[in-house]
Amino acid sequence: MKKILILNGPNLNLLGKREPEIYGHRGFMDYYEALQARYPDVELSYFQSNIEGELINKIHEAGFSLDGIILNAGAYTHTSIALHDAIRSVTTPVIEVHISNVHQREEFRHHSMISAACMGVICGFGLDSYRLAVEAMVGK
Ligand code: DQA
Repeated sequence: MKKILILNGPNLNLLGKREPEIYGHRGFMDYYEALQARYPDVELSYFQSNIEGELINKIHEAGFSLDGIILNAGAYTHTSIALHDAIRSVTTPVIEVHISNVHQREEFRHHSMISAACMGVICGFGLDSYRLAVEAMVGK
């Protein structure tokens, strides 16, 4: 049974309430439960933090034993060399995901500090971006 961690960064605890015209009306826990039901043969786990260091600690903790990490680093995507280094420091492959198509948005969202350290990037499919990342990992 594959073990996959979904790791959400800052402000993603407000999904459903936060800028719904961009991120939709659905809360993440509702989506996550549906995802678990859809993949009964995958051991999914979930962690969210608004704190960069906590995301790094989680990558260290999970990054030598799990089969995959699906990371939506929120705005830290665009700023965090420390997250880039954390992803490079572990052996578990990481897929970068974004709900919105960051390339259609403000220019400061066009660059990711973490993409080069990740196995791949999925963005712009709404919450379905997470499912597509699970698909990519279970297909491996
Ligand atoms: C996001 C895109 C980021 O630019 C933004 O800071 C987020 C969410 C997304 O999922 O579309 O917080 O990662």
